[in-house]
Amino acid sequence: MSPRYGDYQLEIYLNGMRGVQPRFPADAATMEHRAAEALPPWVLSYVKSGAGDEGTQRANVEAFSRWGLVPRMMEGAYERDLSTSLFGIELEHPLFLCPIGVLGICSQDFHGDLATARAAARTGVPMVASTLSQDPLEDIAAELGDTPGFFQLYPPNDRDLALSLIRRAEQAGYSALVVTLDTWVTGWRPRDLNTANFPQLRGYCLANYVTDEHFRSRLGGDPEADPMATAALWASVFGYATSWSDLDWIREATSLPIVLKGISHPDDVRKAKDLGVDGVYCSNHGGRQANGGLPALQTLPRVVEAADDEIPVLFDSGVRSGSDMVKALAMGATLVGTGRPYVHALAVGGEDGVVHHLRSFLAEADLLMAIDGYPTLERLRAAGLERVL
Ligand SMILES: Cc1cc2nc3c(=O)[nH]c(=O)nc-3n(C[C@H](O)[C@H](O)[C@H](O)COP(=O)(O)O)c2cc1C
Repeated sequence: MSPRYGDYQLEIYLNGMRGVQPRFPADAATMEHRAAEALPPWVLSYVKSGAGDEGTQRANVEAFSRWGLVPRMMEGAYERDLSTSLFGIELEHPLFLCPIGVLGICSQDFHGDLATARAAARTGVPMVASTLSQDPLEDIAAELGDTPGFFQLYPPNDRDLALSLIRRAEQAGYSALVVTLDTWVTGWRPRDLNTANFPQLRGYCLANYVTDEHFRSRLGGDPEADPMATAALWASVFGYATSWSDLDWIREATSLPIVLKGISHPDDVRKAKDLGVDGVYCSNHGGRQANGGLPALQTLPRVVEAADDEIPVLFDSGVRSGSDMVKALAMGATLVGTGRPYVHALAVGGEDGVVHHLRSFLAEADLLMAIDGYPTLERLRAAGLERVL
């Protein structure tokens, strides 16, 4: 049986009886509101930003309200088992931290990647570390303790740099390589365009590049001495339109399990399986990349069906609560990712804020399964969801 995540609410109420009020809110909306007060406007804008009129971004969140779980009574859900596994790694629950490229600058000390890794270590929630971090991937891995970390790769158009990043991730102890496919070029984001705001071009979150031997040798000088040249080189190597044939050299470069992020179509899942990919990650990048698409949740059932239990399906985009997490699990996701909600928690409370957020998600999910009579993830998945009329 899993730890009783739901008991977190008891801790909060008992603290209240001793006169200790919670430092952080229990819901994502209030946390987001507080993050808006805590973050510098240019960082806030980058986090909020979505493609186009942000319609897909909103649809991602709204989609969850169109599906519901049917409660079952007297089903013995007094104890719940949320445990699962991924690539042979036993996990106590199916929650993970999505890769977030500006995480570093979302905490007050500008070391948000490290704070998040420490929160992962304290909660056992696996972290997917972005290529675009403010601290190098090795330092992030060192903070993870026993909690698994996965390295997210934005494949650069310089093959040697890609190979170097993959090698470093493997040496640093990451347990999987998550290759993001939907961001070889940045989506049209009016919120950022209107203020000409792109943090990486201002030199932020490039730690993995400026610490990379190959990148440094191409730069031919000290990255700190010439930030403009560093940003220009980064911009020139960042984007690479990965194709199916690239899986050959990626596979050859690493023995880590490979997960493809940005998958929405069942044919892409089948192709991934045929080519020996280890997992797919159903996501539309939180609506940041392409506007006008379907909510990610709507694409999940077909991705799950095509994966056919042969490979795991990670999911994110629009998850805002423990109950959203439960719904995605009921639809067949293997693991569910929190994205913007944990960024907001980081902005408000650093490491402690993220720990609170993760414990809150898990508590809500656990209590929902208790009350609705689903003692295991298998039972939840077998029951599925019904569409709200
Ligand atoms: C500010 C920000 C930065 C992100 N950076 C990355 C990244 O570096 N790599 C990546 O694969 N996805 C990145 N994503 C996408 C997330 O991994 C995830 O797909 C998305 O946040 C899910 O949407 P939601 O946060 O609205 O639920 C980023 C998202 C945000 C909001």
